[in-house]
Amino acid sequence: MVKIIPGILEQDFSVIQQKVSLVKPYVDMVHLDIMDGDFVPQTTFRDPAQIATLDIRLGVHLMVAHPEFSVKKWATLANVDRVFVHEEAVTNLDEVVKQVRSEGKKVGLSINPETSVIGVKEHIHMVDMIMIMGVEPGQSGQEMLPDTFEKVREAKKYFEKVLVVVDGGVTMANKKRLVASGADELVANSAIFDAPDIKAAIEALAA
Ligand code: DX5
Ligand code: ZN
Repeated sequence: MVKIIPGILEQDFSVIQQKVSLVKPYVDMVHLDIMDGDFVPQTTFRDPAQIATLDIRLGVHLMVAHPEFSVKKWATLANVDRVFVHEEAVTNLDEVVKQVRSEGKKVGLSINPETSVIGVKEHIHMVDMIMIMGVEPGQSGQEMLPDTFEKVREAKKYFEKVLVVVDGGVTMANKKRLVASGADELVANSAIFDAPDIKAAIEALAA
């Protein structure tokens, strides 16, 4: 069964707390978007000391420039299980992997729509997960780009040892096709938090 991970992209810590409490009864992990206004124009709340107080397991999606300089402060947080960095932002993936693994955490490589799956084949053996962006990073509620399905298929076919995660544009209408293409995990923000019934939305996405 595909794993559904609620995505949270917010400026305000109290909203992050609220969203965590809304989904906590139904999931064991959330995906927290971190944006620095540099790798992407937008920013999010990004104070690790406060984020460390959230009572749920976290996957942190770093949409930041030069993640080698900030990855450690995320990987050390006790509630962070995994950290994703972007292929387009990282200059020293070795260093990132070393820092994340030294904390006993998992590391994922995210790829933007313009980055091909085959383009990261030299890096993939170093990481635990590949995260295929279904949209340009920066905001939630965008429509999934049609190439995403083929990229998921390629990732599943070429990279047998990594989990294939999809982030951005996941909906009730496309989740079946993503799973059929080989997705192991789906991150969903608006499809969950804009739904009238959060529990029903999570269950329906997973079904
Ligand atoms: C985009 C973020 C996504 C986003 C997903 O930059 O990385 O995680 O919040 O939002 P939806 O599911 O609404 O496309
Ligand atoms: Zn994300």
